[in-house]
Amino acid sequence: MKLLVVGSGGREHAIAKKLLESPQVEQVFVAPGNDGMTLDGLDLVNIGISEHSKLIDFAKSHAVAWTFIGPDDALAAGIVDDFEAAGLKAFGPSRLAAELEWSKDFAKSIMKKYNVPTARYETFSDFAAAKAYIEKEGAPIVVKADGLALGKGVVVAETVEEAVAAAQDMLLDNKFGDSGARVVIEEFLSGEEFSLFAFANGERYYILPTAQDHKRAYDGDKGPNTGGMGAYAPVPHLAAEVVETSIQTIIKPVLEGMIAEGRPYLGVLYAGLILTADGPKVIEFNSRFGDPETQIILPRLTSDFAQNITDILAGKEPKITWLDAGVTLGVVVASEGYPLAYEKGVKLPAKTEEDIITYYAGAQFAENGSALLSNGGRVYMLVTTADSVRAAQERIYDQLEKQDTAGLFYRTDIGSKAL
Ligand code: AMP
Ligand code: GLY
Repeated sequence: MKLLVVGSGGREHAIAKKLLESPQVEQVFVAPGNDGMTLDGLDLVNIGISEHSKLIDFAKSHAVAWTFIGPDDALAAGIVDDFEAAGLKAFGPSRLAAELEWSKDFAKSIMKKYNVPTARYETFSDFAAAKAYIEKEGAPIVVKADGLALGKGVVVAETVEEAVAAAQDMLLDNKFGDSGARVVIEEFLSGEEFSLFAFANGERYYILPTAQDHKRAYDGDKGPNTGGMGAYAPVPHLAAEVVETSIQTIIKPVLEGMIAEGRPYLGVLYAGLILTADGPKVIEFNSRFGDPETQIILPRLTSDFAQNITDILAGKEPKITWLDAGVTLGVVVASEGYPLAYEKGVKLPAKTEEDIITYYAGAQFAENGSALLSNGGRVYMLVTTADSVRAAQERIYDQLEKQDTAGLFYRTDIGSKAL
């Protein structure tokens, strides 16, 4: 069987590498992918994620059995609908089902309608009304651009002035373009954040290990928000009841609600949750796998990933099994300056072997082909599975100390909250 993965980051590297491990998979193409993936025997296809008809032609001419869609913007652009219209199978939600991610107002309205616990909110397109609401509610308060904003559309404001300024940026000054033409203003929630993923098909769902991302750039959760600087799974200090409550009060009613809305959900459902004093509540939904969470979750899958997805796509019960023991932890190495301006072209250390996996994101071969160079904000990630968080940290950080990371940086405290 030949498969195609759409996307180019560490997430897609992890998906494609896991698919290639399946004995029935002879070849995995990644469009457009990144050069680092070729070190794992993946085949790059030079087609961008928005070129749906070229991707469809490629999948047809190469007898691709099905395609796994990585990024949210491709889903929001209706890539799955286009594949299906062409008679091809793709794993990911339709454009209408993916609205759970691409419109925060839609996601909130679904949660309200189906009684899913989340922060109290109102949606505004008028600045004066938004300002009046912020002044009435007081701070802290959270202001979110309605649409996709590359993770930058959320302001957790500690003062009323900061919240009003954020609403002004989005509604009056158009800083987020169409994504900020509406804003969701919601209650500030406090508690520990974690992520819960499910493979879903209609009302059926299969829960993945819990994970915790580290979104801020620097140690101690300081600095600007990023795509994610490291993660681990499962979250050892999260009680089993919390996971069960999250499934029953969040995952299940949302999937049932989406069916009732005529938008059945197929693909990965990613719930960003916060454990408040009143139990788990939703911070956001994403309509796809997380990056970097995928890189630490998929190594724990002990069943045949390609068969699992084939079964879900066929509406059959997949036999999905996970590693029970230990923890999988990964640290992202990024370009100095990320998430703001950074240099490209830094020579990367050699790919690790044996018990540490290297997943590549922003990596490209030098023109003469000799060396792998940095080519993006998040560059690569080291991932290992060990008996404990501490043992995993030691192995990864020992390795990172041996590597030449000049021009790059990483957090030194991934997983420390679990100690
Ligand atoms: P999001 O892009 O929706 O994941 O939001 C980015 C980050 O903002 C989250 O990971 C949280 O740390 C924080 N955040 C979002 N919504 C809230 C909220 N209602 N209360 C507290 N923090 C929040
Ligand atoms: N790790 C956060 C995300 O994928 O959105």
